[in-house]
Parts: sequence; C-alpha cells; structure tokens
Amino acid sequence: MKQRKGIILAGGSATRLYPLTLAISKQIMPVYDKPMIYYPLSVLMEAEIREVLIISTPRDIVTFENLLGDGSQWGMHFEYKIQEKPNGLAEAFLIGEEFIGNSNVTMILGDNMFYGEHLVEILKRANKREDEATIFGYLVKDPTAYGVVEIDQDGHAVSIEEKPEIPKSNYAVPGLYFYTNEVVKIAKAIQPSARGELEITSVNEEYMKRGKLKVEKLGRGITWFDTGTHDALLETASFVQTIEKRQGMQVCCPEEIAYNNGWINKQELLALSEKYIKTEYGMYLKELAENKY
Ligand code: TTP
Repeated sequence: MKQRKGIILAGGSATRLYPLTLAISKQIMPVYDKPMIYYPLSVLMEAEIREVLIISTPRDIVTFENLLGDGSQWGMHFEYKIQEKPNGLAEAFLIGEEFIGNSNVTMILGDNMFYGEHLVEILKRANKREDEATIFGYLVKDPTAYGVVEIDQDGHAVSIEEKPEIPKSNYAVPGLYFYTNEVVKIAKAIQPSARGELEITSVNEEYMKRGKLKVEKLGRGITWFDTGTHDALLETASFVQTIEKRQGMQVCCPEEIAYNNGWINKQELLALSEKYIKTEYGMYLKELAENKY
C-alpha cells in the first residue's frame, strides 16, 4: 500500500478573528511560541504522514510557502495549492486530486490543534486503517455548536448532524479526517449545501451509508482546540505556555517530531536549532540533540 498523504486546509475568511485577520491569514497567527499551522502539521507528522499539501487563499499561500518551504528541512515534502474561494471543506479533495493520486489521505483543518496522552497511538491506528474512513468523537458539554456523531457498539457512525438543536450524543466531530482514496470520487459527486458549500458532512454521510465510517473517541487525556475566535486563540496559547513552562516539553514541535520519526538526524537538528538559538525554542532543540530529554 502507498504511503498515506496529508492535506492542511488553511484558507477560509476568518471573520471571527477580525481585525486580526484583515490583512493576514488566521493560520499564521501566533499560538504562544509558534505559528498556528505548526500545530495541525505536527498532528499529521505524529501520524507518520510525510507528504503534505497545504491549501490556502490566493492572498496567503505565499506566506505559507515562505514559512514552510518544500519540507526538506524536516525530511518531508510539501506542496501548495490555492482555493479561490471558501467553497467548503470537501473542495480540498478536488483541489488536491492530483496530489492525492492513488493514496489514502488525511485532512486536518489549519486552525485545529490536538494534544495529549495516547494521541499518537490513535493517529497511527487511524493511519493503518486502509479500507475504512476514520473521524473522531470529542466529548463536549454542549454539542449544539458542532457536527455531532452518534456511534454504535462497534465504533461506527450511525448519524451525523450539523449543529443539532437536540443532539443525539455529546460527541463533537473535530477537524481531522482520515479517508480512503475513494474520497476524491465521493467529493466529486456531492452537491453544494443550502449555504453553497461542499460540506465535509456530505462526504462523511456517504462513508456512513457504505458502513465504512469508523469513529475513534478522544478521551479525557486529550485536548482539542479550534482557535477560531479571540478567546479561543488566547486560551490555546495559555495552554501551550502552561505545559511548556511546567513540563519543559515542547507542544507540537515539528523539529522534535521529525527527529523522533528518524526523518532528520542529530546534525540536522543541531543545524536547525542554531537559527533560533536566542530563544527557548532553539535551546530546547539543541538540548534534544544532546539527549537531554
Ligand atoms: P471556519 O472556522 O468554519 O471558517 P473561517 O476560518 O473562514 O472563519 P470564520 O467563521 O471566522 O469566518 O473554517 C474552518 C477551517 O477551515 C479554517 O481553518 C478555515 C478552513 N476553510 C477553508 O480553508 N476553506 C473553506 O472553504 C472553509 C469553509 C474553511
């Protein structure tokens, strides 16, 4: 089987973050010590996905290319494509058709961050599931603002509803989707919704109809943030700061994950650390290379 590929969808209009995002992309905003896109990228890397397509707006794509380059600094491969308008999440599979080729593919939204215990095991398990799609169920107190999934005994989705008034479960669906190669065909066949978007829920419904939509529950040890509002942005940054200060461990550090995955070696990590040596981030990378963690 071919290696699974990854997509980070980092377009959209980010109106809930105005005026911060009047002139620059949401997914480039600082979340404590890193640009926001490092967090979803780290999740793909933890899932051992090495080839990633970044999709953004005509205005912002250059910023991401400047930030992330071709990926070779982390032993990866990055490509870039433009989404002309925010026509919906499922459009990513049309824009990404050529990049996806005949691989399975995982998409993460550029403003979603995940962190916590057993996450890596869950991600690797989803990566290996080759014939079924995997979405996630995150327990929330008030699910009415989310896509809500109802799950049967053996972990398959039986219903998905967008922002239901009377939710059938408390499991919200976060912006991380592991699909089979069939997703391209499925995305081509769906119709735009009443709000004129190609909805990811329509893709999930098709997998569900085929009995191929697995749901992995994310337990209490895992934190999920969607950083789309001013308060959420600040809360996420505080969370990252608290963990990094208290434990002295980096949260979602691409260099560290690349090193742990064996995609870069010690010399390469040391060379990367020199660029940031005036920061705690750079010192951390240096110490990592010197086996301090
Ligand atoms: P949203 O948060 O739903 O939308 P938005 O980012 O445009 O923000 P706002 O509601 O403040 O106007 O989008 C979720 C993520 O998906 C976000 O990272 C942007 C991205 N996105 C796209 O890249 N293309 C799209 O067509 C849509 C709908 C979203």
